Amino acid sequence: MDLANVDMTALAKQLCHPEGEMGMEVGKVMEKHTEQLNMFALDQLQLQPTDHVLEIGFGPGVAIAEVARQLRDGYADGIDQSKEMLAMASERNRRAIIEDRVTLKLGTARSLPYADGSFDKVFAVNVFHFWPEPAAELAECLRVLKSGGIVLFYLTHPSSWPAGFRESGVFIAREPEEVEALLQAADFRKTEHRWDQQKDYKGFVVVGVK
Ligand SMILES: C[S@@+](CC[C@H](N)C(=O)[O-])C[C@H]1O[C@@H](n2cnc3c(N)ncnc32)[C@H](O)[C@@H]1O
Repeated sequence: MDLANVDMTALAKQLCHPEGEMGMEVGKVMEKHTEQLNMFALDQLQLQPTDHVLEIGFGPGVAIAEVARQLRDGYADGIDQSKEMLAMASERNRRAIIEDRVTLKLGTARSLPYADGSFDKVFAVNVFHFWPEPAAELAECLRVLKSGGIVLFYLTHPSSWPAGFRESGVFIAREPEEVEALLQAADFRKTEHRWDQQKDYKGFVVVGVK
């Protein structure tokens, strides 16, 4: 995909919900360009070998493949609203799915199809900025976490967004302190943020404890 010739609002919409042929192309761009920040997010999550982990918005499934690799006796679930990304991530994680170490589903963060207290960790990479009023999504994250469980959101900082994303109406620009405040309002405690500061790129994670 030649990003120089793409309509930025169309691209923003596809990143929020990849669909059709363009959605598959966007998925390929993500799998090529987001590995480093996904690995940063996972480092911050400090996975334990027996963790039960949920990823919301797995896209092409790069992070969940690494989660499955790291968990010895744990289990990884993933949910994404895009059927194209479900197909792509299922192909990437085929072996782990067959071995019953990963389950991927189609669905939305507003209504997570998991029982209360299911997970040690819930995370999402570059998904939070698509949630204009995230109270419902955060309530669901809180509900499916075990007591003492951790939620983690990775967000690319708006200063590193391509021109046009801010104006697209799809991406909501948020500073780490604002995300922390939203987590606190949703009853997460011990919130904090940490920067992912590269030479030409800035992102951050926000974590909270149930
Ligand atoms: C920008 S992509 C990021 C994909 C992946 N996390 C990565 O870093 O490569 C956002 C993904 O989140 C999914 N998504 C966005 N909002 C969602 C929601 N409310 N519930 C479930 N999935 C969502 C989209 O379908 C898309 O696959």
